[in-house]
Amino acid sequence: MPVWLRGILFVLTVVAVWSGVHVYLYSKFAVIFQPDKAAKRWAIFALVFLAASYFLARGVDSFFGRDVALPLHWIGAVWLGYVGVAFSVFFLYDILLNLPLWIAAKVGSGPVWAEKAKYWGIRAAMLAGILVTVFGLVRNFSGPVIKTYEIALDKLPKSLDGFVLVQGSDIHLGGLVGDWYVSRIERAFEKADGDLVVLTGDLSDEHNGGDGALLGRLGKLRSKKPILAVAGNHERYSGGEPLVQKIKDSGIDVLRQTHRIIDDGLVIAGIDDSVFMPNGLGDVPAAIDESLKGAPAELPVILLSHRPSLMEHAAKAGVDLMLTGHTHGGQTPPFGVLNRFAFPVIKGFANYDQMKLYVTTGTAWWGAPVRVFNSPEIVRFVLRSSL
Ligand SMILES: [Fe+2]
Repeated sequence: MPVWLRGILFVLTVVAVWSGVHVYLYSKFAVIFQPDKAAKRWAIFALVFLAASYFLARGVDSFFGRDVALPLHWIGAVWLGYVGVAFSVFFLYDILLNLPLWIAAKVGSGPVWAEKAKYWGIRAAMLAGILVTVFGLVRNFSGPVIKTYEIALDKLPKSLDGFVLVQGSDIHLGGLVGDWYVSRIERAFEKADGDLVVLTGDLSDEHNGGDGALLGRLGKLRSKKPILAVAGNHERYSGGEPLVQKIKDSGIDVLRQTHRIIDDGLVIAGIDDSVFMPNGLGDVPAAIDESLKGAPAELPVILLSHRPSLMEHAAKAGVDLMLTGHTHGGQTPPFGVLNRFAFPVIKGFANYDQMKLYVTTGTAWWGAPVRVFNSPEIVRFVLRSSL
């Protein structure tokens, strides 16, 4: 299928799903508020505006700049989060209460309390949607939290015992992730006080890195050694090669199918995200092999890869620890459920033979600034030698 046709089909699918979700929400609000004709017109107008606001903000951003688009971006992004949460809660209400009562009514007369339960159930679902969204906003904006894990690496020399590697990921600079949140990130990295900072992709959503000011601040995050990074899918969507160059210009060493040796005792390898590769995920195994070419076999290997894919191959290739991001841990409901279909692990640790995988929830957010089941994070790995 030609790329342009795939693009059109993708846009049509997004519009159809997004419209369908809004029709579903409207049907619930209509049951609760019983609007008259005039109110219905206003409600539809408001819903269309809210539904379009996130996409409009992105358009305004491209033509008039980030500051002009910011108010619309806030409205659109918060609405995006509310829609995700409200859809999930109303869907649960339908499955857990409405459907059983409907079946009961079909097979018999149904319980006498059915109407009352539906009346209060739908109102409780609406209130829960609002409260959970507020909770998710607060949780998101209180981040990033700092997590610390000790990791034993069999081949790590004694001289590197206690080495602190700090991982950040999925920062998505631009839009709502501006100066104020970058300041929060800087403070978190200062506290983490790492020997080496690694950034596992999706650093910027600014086209070609914008004026480079925000990226420049990432390049100066506290790290005793030069910061290492890999390119994520958003680096491709937001400009590709010019953006990767801008990241390098900010002082960050981008590992593209290559590795660095740290203090003669640790190999850090990195690969581009699969969207940079002609055959996508099909090219990732070769990219992993390429990144490890020439690496001393007696040293432990940490692989940086934006998305948690091809772990079995990485383990076979001799990787000891694979650090990834991309999933945001599901970020906003219902994406946690959908993410689990696409990735075997969406957050935390998993084992693949001798290799450990870590999937971070990411340091900022993309789209809706609403996190219900996890926080934005940076992760300190204290490396331990078992030699
Ligand atoms: Fe990503």
